[in-house]
Amino acid sequence: MSWVRESLEGIEPYSPGKRASEVKRELGLDSVVKLSSNESPYPPVSAALEAIAGAAGTLTRYPAGAAALLKDKLRGLLGIPPAAIMVGNGSNELLRLLADVVLEPGDEVIAAAPSFIVYPMVARLRGATMVEVPLLGQAHDLEAMVEAVNERTRLIFVCNPNNPTGTIVSGAAVRAFLAAVPEDIVVCFDEAYHEYVTDPDYRTALEFRDEHPNIVVLRTFSKIYGLAGLRIGYGVAAPVIVETIDKVREPFNVNTVAQVAAYYSLEAQEEISARARENALERDFVEGELDVLGFGRAESQTNFVYFDCGGPAMEAFERLQRQGVIVRAFGRSRFIRATLGTRSENERLIAALGNL
Ligand SMILES: Cc1ncc(COP(=O)(O)O)c(C=O)c1O
Repeated sequence: MSWVRESLEGIEPYSPGKRASEVKRELGLDSVVKLSSNESPYPPVSAALEAIAGAAGTLTRYPAGAAALLKDKLRGLLGIPPAAIMVGNGSNELLRLLADVVLEPGDEVIAAAPSFIVYPMVARLRGATMVEVPLLGQAHDLEAMVEAVNERTRLIFVCNPNNPTGTIVSGAAVRAFLAAVPEDIVVCFDEAYHEYVTDPDYRTALEFRDEHPNIVVLRTFSKIYGLAGLRIGYGVAAPVIVETIDKVREPFNVNTVAQVAAYYSLEAQEEISARARENALERDFVEGELDVLGFGRAESQTNFVYFDCGGPAMEAFERLQRQGVIVRAFGRSRFIRATLGTRSENERLIAALGNL
């Protein structure tokens, strides 16, 4: 006899990796840089910090359940009606809710591999079957993903830019892909890192929504906005998807502090663009140094780099950690993902890699 669903037995819990303070204590290091979760090296924008402090006095009340002010701010910025906007406790929650409202047991879900680890998790929770399509040259192989479509396919994830490789698929490739995917299939574009993209061939999937109402676009305040600890993200989808998610989500899924911090962060677009420019400079610097060191790497359009460390990734991970640099290693592969930090953090990463 088991008290829990048998179908959940094979699922591994998400492993967030160690916090900088734990590594510092365990290894007796003076300082540690955490470059493992693609967080921002900068604090939240000052208007957000003020709003966070100001919101403390309102915490006796439940949050705004419909996040109406935040949705209105997003409407102003994106030109999208609030009926097509959803807000979640991180975009992670929206991934889970999307799977909840789209998938029946036995349905098929297509995603790239490797891509964001949460897609197979939410698919399996619904009893759906994950169909993973290998990357081609470290980027989504959209043509092969179209070929993987069959009558059981209900949902396709396109992580653009992709985590963990940092690569993008071009607007032209997305256009051709959407034209080939039947409209009864939901196509979710995860744009958690879109603010960092500098390649002019990139297009946000929001541009294709009028022609393809089956598109869902997810975004987050955890990356460039520096609000990972508050848990807030948003999505754009057909109103019927937003309404259905409203039926199944928790009534107060996004806390008050997160809502006001996100609202005021959106007003600081100039500061956010400056951070994106800074990130692009650091990306050029780190990629240049990786090339000098001879580590084969993917073309990043994000705030992280993905490279072949020349040996077992877990071993390299341990050796970097002993030097006070926490990165992400991918299982039994040779690939490491390192988040871009400030210049001095990046120099430390490069120096540690040089010692490998
Ligand atoms: C591709 C991708 N999507 C979604 C998320 C989740 O972001 P959030 O913090 O909004 O849940 C992440 C976070 O690492 C990510 O890399």
